[in-house]
Amino acid sequence: MSVTDLNVVARALVAPGKGILAADESSPTIKKRFDSISAESTEDSRRSYREMLFTTPDACRHISGVILFDETLRQSTRDGTPFPDYLSSQGMIPGIKVDKGAKALPNFTGEKVTEGLDGLNNRLAEYRDLGAKFAKWRAVIDIGDGIPTDFCILANAHALARYAALCQEAGLVPIVEPEVLMDGDHDIVLCEEVTNTVLSVTFDQLKLHRVNFEGMLLKPNMVISGKKCPVQAGAEEIAEATVRCLTANVPEEVPGIAFLSGGQSDVDATTHLSAMNKLGSHPWELSFSYGRALQASALQSWAGQKENYELGQAAFGLRAKLNGLARTGSYNPSMESATT
Ligand code: 13P
Repeated sequence: MSVTDLNVVARALVAPGKGILAADESSPTIKKRFDSISAESTEDSRRSYREMLFTTPDACRHISGVILFDETLRQSTRDGTPFPDYLSSQGMIPGIKVDKGAKALPNFTGEKVTEGLDGLNNRLAEYRDLGAKFAKWRAVIDIGDGIPTDFCILANAHALARYAALCQEAGLVPIVEPEVLMDGDHDIVLCEEVTNTVLSVTFDQLKLHRVNFEGMLLKPNMVISGKKCPVQAGAEEIAEATVRCLTANVPEEVPGIAFLSGGQSDVDATTHLSAMNKLGSHPWELSFSYGRALQASALQSWAGQKENYELGQAAFGLRAKLNGLARTGSYNPSMESATT
């Protein structure tokens, strides 16, 4: 795939009014989500839950693409249409999570590095043949006592850049996801400082690996107070700090930034995205690639019961729509009750 083709896919993923659904929970993670609603996690219950989300009426109005897990990429709708084909037929671009998870970084207590580079070129070729057009790799940076270290940031940025280069070579758009976790009691100032360093080192590595910025997307955390910080920054402060951090580090050639939700409530994730887009026009699209913030209410409404399928779809459809509005800064929390 040429650079132009990669750019076309990247731009379609952050098309106005739209964003990405991250439905790529690994089997242990989706089990945790199902445990929270006392639903059993089986191959078919996972398939059925994902089918509920993907077949939500009008989902494609606000959902540009869906990130899938290996198992889901190989599954089909009830009537036998492979998920990648179904999504494409509805105008939603199928993507695939390709990292193998964050594992302990030896000699660096409490820090992790993401694995999955060995044999990645072969896996990417297979995923492309199965219909994937883009990929995702998540690196995890924790803030705590004496961490993150410069080495942990560098090791993760290096792996992200190797992954991104391999994706572009294989004709897939890489979503580069360096996530600074919001666990912990740090304040927003420290989050901004760490996020600045992480983004700066990540883009240095992407450049060194000759990754084409026009054919990739960035999936960062928002700059936000740690969950256990006694003083929580408000939406305006979060929006200003996040945009300041992105402006300092993200080249204008990158077509879009699709935030992760990272454990924010669904309403907060929508509010913060809207506040950023309200700040005016930016060189890149500011969009979403939410997992929990798009799925939490749908998961609760579904509760593992077939008869709740439509309630689950309505809940997901609402979050997709409200985040679609946040893309232009026109979301207002009063819409939460007005539209239900
Ligand atoms: P959350 O929005 O739940 O953080 O998930 C996004 C994601 O894809 C994490 O890798």
